[in-house]
Amino acid sequence: MGFAAVDVIRAKRDGRVLSDAAIDWVIGAYTAGEVAEEQMSALAMAILLNGMTGAEIARWTAAMIASGERLDLSGARRPTVDKHSTGGVGDKITLPLAPLVASFGVAVPQLSGRGLGHTGGTLDKLEAIPGFRVRLSTAEFVGQLREVGASVCAASDALAPADRKLYALRDVTGTVESIPLIASSIMSKKIAEGTDALVLDVKVGSGAFMKDLDSARELARTMVELGGAHGVRTVALLTDMATPLGLAVGNGIEVAESVQVLAGGGPADVVELTLALAREMLAAAGRPDVDPEAALANGTAMDSWRAMVRAQGGDPDAPLPAAAETELVRAERAGVVSTMDAYGVGIAAWRAGAGRARKEDPVSAAAGVLLHRKPGEWVERGDVLAELRADDPARIAPALDELRGAITIADEAPPRRPLVLDRVS
Ligand code: URA
Repeated sequence: MGFAAVDVIRAKRDGRVLSDAAIDWVIGAYTAGEVAEEQMSALAMAILLNGMTGAEIARWTAAMIASGERLDLSGARRPTVDKHSTGGVGDKITLPLAPLVASFGVAVPQLSGRGLGHTGGTLDKLEAIPGFRVRLSTAEFVGQLREVGASVCAASDALAPADRKLYALRDVTGTVESIPLIASSIMSKKIAEGTDALVLDVKVGSGAFMKDLDSARELARTMVELGGAHGVRTVALLTDMATPLGLAVGNGIEVAESVQVLAGGGPADVVELTLALAREMLAAAGRPDVDPEAALANGTAMDSWRAMVRAQGGDPDAPLPAAAETELVRAERAGVVSTMDAYGVGIAAWRAGAGRARKEDPVSAAAGVLLHRKPGEWVERGDVLAELRADDPARIAPALDELRGAITIADEAPPRRPLVLDRVS
């Protein structure tokens, strides 16, 4: 059945519920180029302002899945479980997590993205490893899941193409921050990927899309319901993103920090979140009995990482790129570090060259921010708080301003914040 795009826009503008047929039509016609970008941007804005019912979100998601292919991962011959994070600063968890979970005979099919704005992208991080290939054919992807268990690569253009177009449009029309649009965007890709189970890491705080716990909880509930409706067992952890995860924010330095975790070390918060997500994934894959902590300590997770890197053409022993310029940020007074604002640190790393402003921009593998201190730690005047790294000296000054503004020192320690704030299942 045919519709006029303007009628669909008017219906949502006036707060009406879109019919299943209207949703199927608008997604199909937009993917085919028959609904214009300006019409879809008006509709996205109407959805952002007026919301959608649960039934509308479910249909919208199903239509986005149906716009492309759905992968068949049965060739992996292992239970499959994936993890998706809504994006944060210093969020390198996929790197230690995927091989860790795979070391227990589970397949982790990670189709990941690139960074945009202040949040980093897993593919950009892995490409800091010399030789690492993120473009795999479906046959290579499934073969690697069977042989190695973990594979992290770029999603093919055939997966949820409606979302690919719509996400790029939302990015430039101020329509990213809508729970129905975020939930359907993430879940259409994850359901199309063909995983049996999914663990979501929904970030809350200055460095995340969701700045408060209530909206993060609503996003989590919406996504958990969408997963269940499509036969994908889904649980969500709500986790803090007020402060960057770990000490490293940047592509190559996040790989180095992940390798420390796989070697049984690394920052406590990165280890805690990696283990919390690994336990959820292993339980969802039918292995609640195993101990992921032991696999970090005894080297089996590291073996699995090395096998994954090699399978994708990377050299796990090659040195990571070093930055040409380094600048230290020192404490201007004695006291307790009270904030290291995730958003500000993310912007500083981005300005230093770790991230991109437009999709087609290159990123630097060596640029970023290495924190030397975290909130709650005592410092003396002149102590090093953080280190800024860049390839291009012209990037240092603007990044430095942002980094300095992200750090505050006070007389008293800030209240301790738990890392895992809630669980939705
Ligand atoms: N990530 C996505 O894939 N889609 C969104 O809408 C937001 C974050």
